[in-house]
Amino acid sequence: MARCFVTRSLPGPALDRLRTAHDVEIWGERLPPAYEELSARAANAEGLLTLLTDRVDAALIEHCPHLRAISNYAVGYDNIDIDAASARSIAVGNTPDVLTEATADLTFALLLAAARQLPEAIASVHAGDWLTWEPARYLGAAVQGATLGIVGLGRIGRAVARRALGFEMTVLYAGGGGPGLGEAARDGGAGTVSEVSLSELLERSDFVSLHCPLTPATHHLIDAAALERMRPNAILVNSARGPIVDPEALRSALVAGQIAGAALDVTEPEPLPADDPLLSAPGVIVVPHIGSATRQAREQMAELAVANLLAGLDGTPMPHQVHAVA
Ligand code: DGY
Repeated sequence: MARCFVTRSLPGPALDRLRTAHDVEIWGERLPPAYEELSARAANAEGLLTLLTDRVDAALIEHCPHLRAISNYAVGYDNIDIDAASARSIAVGNTPDVLTEATADLTFALLLAAARQLPEAIASVHAGDWLTWEPARYLGAAVQGATLGIVGLGRIGRAVARRALGFEMTVLYAGGGGPGLGEAARDGGAGTVSEVSLSELLERSDFVSLHCPLTPATHHLIDAAALERMRPNAILVNSARGPIVDPEALRSALVAGQIAGAALDVTEPEPLPADDPLLSAPGVIVVPHIGSATRQAREQMAELAVANLLAGLDGTPMPHQVHAVA
């Protein structure tokens, strides 16, 4: 039996499987353990099951001499220092695929909500401001036939592209991709898919949706210069990671009317304080990082996270291991 620390309760029965095999401590609070608390609880652990809210950096890894496996309950693993884990031959796993469709659905929900000004329209009903049917109120942007730019055509980017083709959108992408989706999309007859440079994507798109991982190269990829390239009618959608967008540059671009809106599932920082200036910028929609939040996806993520941890503790390759371990 190995000692494991799990940094939050997870939906579904997956953690029971872990408990029957190992000695498991689960952090049962709503808020994540503070860094020092995580470090203290992990100190004797051989296995860690972490969330994207847990910073597992080189210092924490060094503080855990017995650690052999880290399983992250997320597809993104920018919260974990992979180099530090590799240097200690600690296996690190993530939970791809099972959340792809849920995240693509939420991305499209954000895109549609921003295009059709749903938050304002809903608020007006609650405020008693639905006085009559009005010809020129809440005029939104057409989605059908518009151009969608996808930054990062990985699993989730592709799933978003498939949805966009159903709306007969022209899909541009920069980064990721390769053969496959393009041909399939053209064969489908509706819409087109083409690879372009990031600059061209920003200049041509009515909607720009971010699906790249957060790395040093993508940190603040969408900065003031990138926002300047975008069209005044453009809407930015981010369901990837908050720090891909420079929040101050985004706020300025919205206030100046350089772009028309931003629909964000992720922000920098997270959580975004209720008095953050970005929230009062025009055309902003923010939801609290719920891309994968369907019961099915979150339970399957738990299954995968547990399968990864069990394999890592067994010394066998994890079903989804993010790096090779010597
Ligand atoms: C992830 O998995 O990386 C998402 O951000 C949360 O599900």
